[in-house]
Amino acid sequence: MQPSSRIACVLALGAFGLTGCASSQPATTTESFGFSLVQRSTLRGAQLWVDLGCAACHSTNGTRGVGPTIRGLAGSRVRLRTGRTREATSRFLREAILGRPGTQVRGYPRNAMRESIGRARRLDRTDVQGIVDFIESVR
Ligand code: HEC
Repeated sequence: MQPSSRIACVLALGAFGLTGCASSQPATTTESFGFSLVQRSTLRGAQLWVDLGCAACHSTNGTRGVGPTIRGLAGSRVRLRTGRTREATSRFLREAILGRPGTQVRGYPRNAMRESIGRARRLDRTDVQGIVDFIESVR
């Protein structure tokens, strides 16, 4: 295992109780050091989640913060500011992270995500996907 991966794993375990760090889940594609590509992407996402300050407003344990918790978010139905609801698919999550129209969540401050969206837009696709994978791992 590369030192950076080990750090990410410890970080993810410590901060989020992320499962799958010990490769207990079946891996579709396995790197030589035992992490699947999805697991690596998830760990990268966890690292970005912390580094970019997302955790300041979004809990991983179900507690409401400045923003909605990400616990159980994936696959749930999100009520939007417009009154519509959307299923929190990977696509929705990616769009929300990038601040696309039609992703603003009802009942939360309107512009709180602005700075984070600016940061997220400077990430490459792989990193954004990592954050999506991370969010989807928080059940
Ligand atoms: C200053 C507080 C704040 C920070 C920091 C922040 N967010 Fe948010 N976020 C919010 C708020 C408030 C909402 C709900 C209102 C909206 O949709 O804009 C939200 C909504 C979201 C949603 C949609 C959630 C749902 O329930 O559908 C996602 C996904 C998200 N943020 C991801 C991120 C990511 C990734 C980062 C870090 C790069 C981040 N946020 C940083 C406040 C924040």
